[in-house]
Amino acid sequence: MIKISRKILGTLEDAARQASRNAYAPYSSFLVGAALLADDGEIYVGCNVENASFGLTNCAERSALFAAVADGRGRGDFAALLIYTPGEICHSPCGACRQVLSEFLEPESFIYSACDSGEVVAWTMGELLPDSFELSSRSPRN
Ligand code: THU
Repeated sequence: MIKISRKILGTLEDAARQASRNAYAPYSSFLVGAALLADDGEIYVGCNVENASFGLTNCAERSALFAAVADGRGRGDFAALLIYTPGEICHSPCGACRQVLSEFLEPESFIYSACDSGEVVAWTMGELLPDSFELSSRSPRN
């Protein structure tokens, strides 16, 4: 597990806030951003992308993760993720995102949530999703 400094946390929050401005959320008007920190310091961002058939909406966290995978990152390559949600309440990642993130982040990795209250809430991946579903036949990286 990598300990995240305040400076890096601030950088992640700035990146997630910036990404939230690009969210496509005409149905909820809830603009979410996420910043995923790779072990080597690279940051991948994502935002929520909604769809008229609501179930196809992609959350900010998964958008960030998928961007990282498209860039060649894989399981165990990530140090932390920060989600920014608008308003005074810092939200935690939805259940679908917890399951997807848990396949790529270590149970000890930190997930942070920032909002407009100034507070930053932190959990470990394992706290957010204990006993995640895994296929036992899966190889370590794919
Ligand atoms: N949303 C996220 O981007 N991340 C979450 O963890 C929860 C919800 C988005 C999906 C939808 O576009 C909007 O927030 C309202 O649910």
